[in-house]
Amino acid sequence: MTQTGDGGWVGALEERARAALSAPVLEYVLTGARDGVSAAEAVGAWAGVRFHPHVLRDVTDVDTSVTLLGHRLEVPWAVAPSSLQRAVHPDGELGMARATAAAGSLMVVSSNAGTSFAEIGATGVAWWLQAYLPADRTLAEPLLERAVAAGARAVVLTVDTPVVATKYGTGENIWDLVDPAIVRVNFDPGYDDQPGSDKALDLGPHDIGWLAGVTGLPVVVKGVLRPDDARRCVQAGARGVWVSNHGGRQLDRAATTVSCLDGVLTAVGGEAEVYVDGGLRSGLDVVAAVALGADAAFLGRLPLLALVDGERGVVDLHARLREETVEAMRLAGARTVADTRGIAVLEG
Ligand SMILES: Cc1cc2nc3c(=O)[nH]c(=O)nc-3n(C[C@H](O)[C@H](O)[C@H](O)COP(=O)(O)O)c2cc1C
Repeated sequence: MTQTGDGGWVGALEERARAALSAPVLEYVLTGARDGVSAAEAVGAWAGVRFHPHVLRDVTDVDTSVTLLGHRLEVPWAVAPSSLQRAVHPDGELGMARATAAAGSLMVVSSNAGTSFAEIGATGVAWWLQAYLPADRTLAEPLLERAVAAGARAVVLTVDTPVVATKYGTGENIWDLVDPAIVRVNFDPGYDDQPGSDKALDLGPHDIGWLAGVTGLPVVVKGVLRPDDARRCVQAGARGVWVSNHGGRQLDRAATTVSCLDGVLTAVGGEAEVYVDGGLRSGLDVVAAVALGADAAFLGRLPLLALVDGERGVVDLHARLREETVEAMRLAGARTVADTRGIAVLEG
């Protein structure tokens, strides 16, 4: 059994998804790139963290809040960007947003979202835009402007996807199967037919400054595993570095994020915020991430699987994570997230 500290409820979520989703959508959500080595390794990698808990500390009142880019979140986890939310459940991004707002968390909205930024913003959720940049950068400007107008508080540049990695499976392209009305609705009509709309193969640190200039928002770079790249991001003005291997969906055999976190923290921690995702499946995993020094943990497949039951499923997920996180913090003698720092060691 994979050790994720969840007591089996993630398995139940997966079972529910297997029963409810069509085969191509299920495959899209669960599959990793190529042989799925990185995707499989991510789940359970957090069980390699060992705690050295404090004792004899008053843990009557536990405060799980963190501050990200100047804004308070009630919990140290947030929702990573994922496309096809409306293919998982008709509630889609709106259900994800409402449930996430109610939990006092934050949602990163994929640029491929199937719901307009204006509608997502109107839910009152704290949200950041995730963007891929096209070969012709100017083509991204309308989408970026819409996100700013709808209240995005930061822009997350995903940098691990110059091309979409090969995934084996039914061989069907999910993007050809889903109703075009429920994906990529924030792009101009005909966007994909324009020359220069393919993903940029020439992204560089200068794109960080360009994005900050166009949006006036803080820029977070998602998909960094190496300390030297983290430094380049921060030198170029990134306010946050997000340690991620895209949930094992891009370069297969990429290292686990838990093993890369410390190097990135050593390189840029203190100068920029550092986040991590990949394989986190429980409150215990979240506490491991912040105890190792991450400013917050992001969750990809977990909220997407919870969304199989619509907004209510995501409400339940946040509640469960909260229970598990408070329990782990109490047992670790940590009254605040700051108290967790330094009590964890990655072994092996
Ligand atoms: C179905 C699916 C769609 C995703 N779509 C995006 C996306 O549009 N943009 C992006 O930056 N990351 C995307 N991701 C990656 C997630 O943001 C995140 O990095 C990853 O899922 C974290 O690993 P986890 O699923 O083990 O939590 C996607 C992930 C999944 C599972």
